[in-house]
Amino acid sequence: MNPRLELSPERMREIGYLVVDRLVEHLTNLSSQPVGAKGDPSTLLANLNEAPPEHGMAFEAVLEQLECDILRNTMHVNHPRFFAYVPGPSNFVSAMADALISGYNVFAGTWISGSGPAAVELAVIEWLRVACGFPSGAGGLFVSGGTMANLTALAVARHVALDDRLEGATVYYSDQAHSSLEKALRVIGLPRENVRKIACDTDYRLPVRELERAIEKDRAAGKRPFCVIASAGTTNTGAIDPLSELSSVCKDQRLWLHVDGAYGAAAVICDQGRELLHGLELADSLSLDPHKWLFQPFEIGCVLVRDAAHLRDTFLILPEYLKDTHQYSAEFNFTDHGLQLTRSFRALKLWMSIKVFGMAAFRAAIERGFELAEFTEARLRKMPGWEIVTPAQMGIVCFRYAGADDAAHLRLVQSILKDGFALITSTILQGKTVLRTCTINPRTTERDIDETLDRLDRLARHKSHDMGL
Ligand SMILES: Cc1ncc(COP(=O)(O)O)c(C=O)c1O
Repeated sequence: MNPRLELSPERMREIGYLVVDRLVEHLTNLSSQPVGAKGDPSTLLANLNEAPPEHGMAFEAVLEQLECDILRNTMHVNHPRFFAYVPGPSNFVSAMADALISGYNVFAGTWISGSGPAAVELAVIEWLRVACGFPSGAGGLFVSGGTMANLTALAVARHVALDDRLEGATVYYSDQAHSSLEKALRVIGLPRENVRKIACDTDYRLPVRELERAIEKDRAAGKRPFCVIASAGTTNTGAIDPLSELSSVCKDQRLWLHVDGAYGAAAVICDQGRELLHGLELADSLSLDPHKWLFQPFEIGCVLVRDAAHLRDTFLILPEYLKDTHQYSAEFNFTDHGLQLTRSFRALKLWMSIKVFGMAAFRAAIERGFELAEFTEARLRKMPGWEIVTPAQMGIVCFRYAGADDAAHLRLVQSILKDGFALITSTILQGKTVLRTCTINPRTTERDIDETLDRLDRLARHKSHDMGL
């Protein structure tokens, strides 16, 4: 029995070294390992369905179970051949930063409990503010991810633009926008019938004319348009909505412009990305996700708001038990600027990894994502039978095997999944199922792509043969 839940210094070191050794082994051998595996629910659930043990066991035994039953049944999103969804390349320095934060159990909600962490968060938010071209009065905070960043931003938009009164309020975005936005609107209480999902144009962007027409129609019907949501890199194709034009519409119409840059906005730090993302700096609020294309381990998302005071206006509530946190005006309490009171020191991992690797390395890592997508597109163009549906755009390529129907593409995904060498998933564009690669892991090599596409080609030919195509 160990009622103090405490270990000797020697044992803590032993356990720490064991964990670090596991991590180093995992990360250095990742490329020669399968991309991961999906467990069979009946076996997996049965293996883990046990009562909490009354008496503890050796850490080594629990670590072994973690390895065998849990981690082996995981898709390694940081694997160089994980091309599905949005990879999470992460980096070791940030993983160690997370271990430090957890070890110190830092409370980053108030200045009184975490002044150093608050100062770091302010500094890192400032780096991102400058990178995104937001004005000096802008501010923001770190949250768990893009979903929470979108929710936070839309709660601010509701407060500022509508004074929290939702009757007749309408919001506009393209049918390519991420589902987290619809969720966020649901949470802030916007009725579904007041959400205008506008069909995208042939480049998968929000068409400005259609948007204007929809706003006009709503105004004529007595509705209260209040917000346009643009995507800075859609999940499906990497398309970037026409941000500058949308900003003009929003200025003319006095609407809030939220930009969901959870996938793509981080690319603003490199030249190619900055050019593609022009207009990003005009948003009233912006979501970006360091746990995607800024190579951080989960969870870290970020919301920036053009006028930092809006965050505080939306979220500040001061109960009596937090009065001590408000004695000095120069002290910054992140809890007043977002939803969470208890919040972890997420900024540390981004701060530490940028300090250790330097911005030049981050820039090059993002540029590599662009390059790998271009390589993927070029390679597919040379493969007979394959067609590009959307060309390399912000690290994403969508493609199809000509002659194979939607169901055959879905079967291909299942075959790749079983094969375990790499992971590629599907999406639907203009009603057709397509395959999609997202190549933002800077540790992916051209060979990884070559070998994956060769396997995919073999699988497609084999399947087409089986189906008599
Ligand atoms: C464009 C976009 N927005 C929002 C999100 C949601 O972000 P998260 O998964 O970090 O909550 C994603 C996730 O892939 C995304 O691609």
